Amino acid sequence: MNFRTAQIRLVSSHPEVYEPCDDSFALVDALLADRTNLVQHQPTLCMEVGCGSGYVITSLALILGKESVGAHFIATDINPHAVRVTQETLEAHGVHAELISTDIALGLEQRLAGSVDVMVVNPPYVPTPEDEVGCEGIVSAWAGGENGRVVIDRILPIADNLLSEKGWLYMVTLAANNPIQICRTMREKGYASRIVLQRSTEEESLHIIKFWRDSDI
Ligand SMILES: C[S@@+](CC[C@H](N)C(=O)[O-])C[C@H]1O[C@@H](n2cnc3c(N)ncnc32)[C@H](O)[C@@H]1O
Repeated sequence: MNFRTAQIRLVSSHPEVYEPCDDSFALVDALLADRTNLVQHQPTLCMEVGCGSGYVITSLALILGKESVGAHFIATDINPHAVRVTQETLEAHGVHAELISTDIALGLEQRLAGSVDVMVVNPPYVPTPEDEVGCEGIVSAWAGGENGRVVIDRILPIADNLLSEKGWLYMVTLAANNPIQICRTMREKGYASRIVLQRSTEEESLHIIKFWRDSDI
């Protein structure tokens, strides 16, 4: 094997930054399982929304490895501490991404419209009271409001705007988010979808969904 994922123990953490957990590992496992396709896809621009510790975007850069020469990586997080920890994670692994502290992709819409070839998102998906969504501190890493869908439902149209014609979106969802309905929403925008990984832990049932544009839809 000539690829690897981020060694998260190598780097520092921060009490207000989401520590990689089952959902992060499931997303990276799904990317690893799809590595051959990802390499053949030859992405020019890869983006993560909500990078947290940087584990996922760093792993994506490592998974693509030498095959991604010339590819540009961008990651955003609403939490400025997350952007700093992600920078340290990237540096510890000798890879690079442009990091921006912003709400989803605010300020990047024009620049990135129609140009993201691979987008990865592990959003705040836990059903919580609405007032916890987007609040200060670590809670905003998981607080997803009603059905855990508040942030997810904001991300979907933004992803549609940013993805290129050949763009792929990999997103973590929970059974409680109603992944089938998420797929239906994306289908109305012209996307096919597939659950590429399903994993049940003691606490939750996770689905990693891959979306791509399908001209037949
Ligand atoms: C479940 S954590 C995932 C972190 C990391 N990607 C991982 O998989 O370990 C969700 C991340 O999304 C960030 N986030 C929450 N709301 C956001 C928003 N509106 N825009 C950008 N990032 C957001 C949180 O700060 C947190 O870092």
